[in-house]
Amino acid sequence: MTLEGIPDSMQAVVLTGHGGLDKLVFHEDWPTPVPGADQVLIRVGACGLNNTDVNTRSAWYSKGNTDATTGEILVGADGQDGAWGGASVSFPRIQGADAVGTVVNVGDQVEKSLMGQRVMIDGWLRDWDDPMNLAKTGYFGSECDGGYAQYTKVSHRQIRPVDSSLSDAELATYVCSYVTAENMLNRAKVTEEDTVLITGGSGGVGSALIQLANRRGARCIAMSGADKAPGVRAVGPYAVIDRSPEDLRSALLDTIGQDFVDVVADVVGGALWPQLIEVISRGGRYTCAGAIAGPIVNFDLRIFYLRDLTFTGATVPPPGVFADLVGYIERGEVRPLLAATYPLEELREAQQAFIDKRHVGNIVAVPGA
Ligand SMILES: NC(=O)c1ccc[n+]([C@@H]2O[C@H](COP(=O)([O-])OP(=O)(O)OC[C@H]3O[C@@H](n4cnc5c(N)ncnc54)[C@H](OP(=O)(O)O)[C@@H]3O)[C@@H](O)[C@H]2O)c1
Repeated sequence: MTLEGIPDSMQAVVLTGHGGLDKLVFHEDWPTPVPGADQVLIRVGACGLNNTDVNTRSAWYSKGNTDATTGEILVGADGQDGAWGGASVSFPRIQGADAVGTVVNVGDQVEKSLMGQRVMIDGWLRDWDDPMNLAKTGYFGSECDGGYAQYTKVSHRQIRPVDSSLSDAELATYVCSYVTAENMLNRAKVTEEDTVLITGGSGGVGSALIQLANRRGARCIAMSGADKAPGVRAVGPYAVIDRSPEDLRSALLDTIGQDFVDVVADVVGGALWPQLIEVISRGGRYTCAGAIAGPIVNFDLRIFYLRDLTFTGATVPPPGVFADLVGYIERGEVRPLLAATYPLEELREAQQAFIDKRHVGNIVAVPGA
């Protein structure tokens, strides 16, 4: 034992390289991290799953890959650009972006009052001398070890105590998806004047987009597979339409009485993409944070410029979005959609269920369960 009953070693799931689920290896005796001077050590209560874990494991981000996310190692993918930011991943790596837990040790430069507090972690690593510089960023669980372990360490600037009656597992459904979704809505300047079409409505980001667009008073139309439509409807969009309509324009007309929208908020891309762009009204906005159905799309530039559209990508948010989210959670303005919890040692099974996508919301791993 070292500090205050903190063991020298811990349970952790370690990604050993690019490949299949067998690259995720559960250890009982991985070294417990030691916090640096400006860091805190957190006992992890729960850690949510995300596609970035799957994409990094399978090297989906590599420019050599042109396929949808499947969780399988991809033909053409290359480990040299296997991380989200275009660099390589250094192995072994503990993944897991959405950790929630309790501060159990602090570095010399950190306020002692943080000890014992339950905190959420902002996944974005920043240069704290230049925090507005979005180019100087990394991601928790990608460029440093993350939350699929009993303990993790982060800069004290990346955490926020949270005052909520929600469980750790419920809180672990939020950060990656909701910060991304809020950043997309900010980038597209969505207001109560807007009708927003949301793809992947049953997923982490899609269900976050529904709640956060509603929070702003926008009218949102969510796309969903038929089997999950009742679950998506329960999240509260104005309407739900099928994820693979024969003709999206007609589907919108039948559902909401108009065949265009002000904004498309997309995390799916793929074959549907030209139809998504086709339904945006003149002067409208397209914002995108994912391409789970395929990153390579058929883009007719004429629609883009002749219709005066604005396109925004959304990945690294400016500082502040995470703090806004914690406020929404504390005030009950968004609710958690916890589909299932798995013990950390069953992370492979949890990730397979996440890839199978029979759920609405998110799946969470719980260490020591
Ligand atoms: N840029 C960022 O910082 C950032 C952050 C978070 C996520 N992302 C990306 O955004 C995308 C969505 O993330 P998420 O966390 O919301 O994912 P998720 O929870 O897995 O949900 C994705 C949803 O997309 C729908 N979908 C439609 N076509 C699909 C297809 N061909 N294959 C699989 N699913 C399809 C599915 O809903 P239905 O079955 O109902 O259609 C599914 O629920 C991913 O590509 C992820 O990597 C990016």
